[in-house]
Amino acid sequence: MLENNSSSGLIQLTDQEFKTLVNFVHSKYGINLIKKRVLIEGRLSQTLHQKGFTSFRQYIEFLQADRTGAEMTNFLNKITTNHSYFARENEHFDYLANTVLPYMERTRGNRHDLRIWSAGCSAGQEAYNIAMTIDQYFGPKKFQWDTTILATDISMDVLHRAKAAIYPENNLTNVPPIWKRKYFKLQPNGEYQVCDKIRKEVVFKPLNLMEPFYFAKPFDIIFCRNVMIYFDTPTTDRLIEKFYNVTAPGGYLFIGHSEVVNKELTKYHYVRPAIYQRKE
Ligand SMILES: C[S@@+](CC[C@H](N)C(=O)[O-])C[C@H]1O[C@@H](n2cnc3c(N)ncnc32)[C@H](O)[C@@H]1O
Repeated sequence: MLENNSSSGLIQLTDQEFKTLVNFVHSKYGINLIKKRVLIEGRLSQTLHQKGFTSFRQYIEFLQADRTGAEMTNFLNKITTNHSYFARENEHFDYLANTVLPYMERTRGNRHDLRIWSAGCSAGQEAYNIAMTIDQYFGPKKFQWDTTILATDISMDVLHRAKAAIYPENNLTNVPPIWKRKYFKLQPNGEYQVCDKIRKEVVFKPLNLMEPFYFAKPFDIIFCRNVMIYFDTPTTDRLIEKFYNVTAPGGYLFIGHSEVVNKELTKYHYVRPAIYQRKE
C-alpha cells in the first residue's frame, strides 16, 4: 500500500508499518491491535500531522524511541477506551457488600485490615465505588478498619482525572439518590466531586499490567474489569495467573462480565459469573 502524504487527510498504514506497530504494542502492552487498522488510521492521523510526520513509519520510530512513555500513553488513550461509570455491573458491589465483606469480617479475627486493588481503574469510579460500598457496610465501625484501596492504570491522563474525582452527572446515573447526597459534593457547574472521606481511601498509581508486579502483601480483593477485553487469550491467561499469585488465600477476583477466565488453566475457584476466589 502506498503512503498518503497529504498534509491534513487520513494517513494510511502500509502493511509493514501495521505489522511493526501490532508486534510492538502486543509485546510491550499485551494489547491486540490486529483488528484496529482503520481505527488507528482514523484516530492517529491528526497526531501525525500535528507532529509533522508524513508516514506511520516516522511515528512508530518516534514511539519506540520515546523512553518517557508519554507518547505511548497518548497513543493508548487514542485507541483504547477509558469509559467507566459509577455502579457499573452493580451486582459486583452487591456481592461485595452481601458476601465478601461479611466473609472477611468473620474470618479476620483481630486483624482489621483489607488489601484491595482496582487494576485498570480508569478515572477512579470503580475504586471510589468500592470505598463507598465498604463505608456503607461498616458504618460507624469503619474507623476500626484499614481498607485503603490501591487503584492503578497505565494512562496518566485518567489517573489525573481520578485524583480530581470530579464527574459529569451522567456518570452517576445508576447511583442511588441517597448515595449521591452522602458521598458526592455538587459543584457550581453541575458536576459532582467525590467527598473527601471517600477520596482519602484510595491511592492512585501508574502501573502497566504487562510488566511484572510485586507487592509486599497479597490482596484480599482484586477488581480488574473491562481491561482484559483488549488482551488476547495467552496474555489474559498470564495476567490471571499473576493476579492469582498476589491474591491472599480466601481472596476474590472480580472481572468484567464480557471477559473470560480459562477454567481449565486457572487455580482460582469459580464462584459465579465474573467472580473467582483463591481457596488456599
Ligand atoms: C474500560 S476501562 C475499565 C475501567 C473500570 N475497570 C471499569 O470496569 O469501568 C479500561 C482501562 O484499562 C486500562 N488499561 C489498558 N491496558 C492496560 C495495561 N496494560 N495496564 C494497565 N491498565 C491498562 C486503560 O487505560 C483503561 O483506563
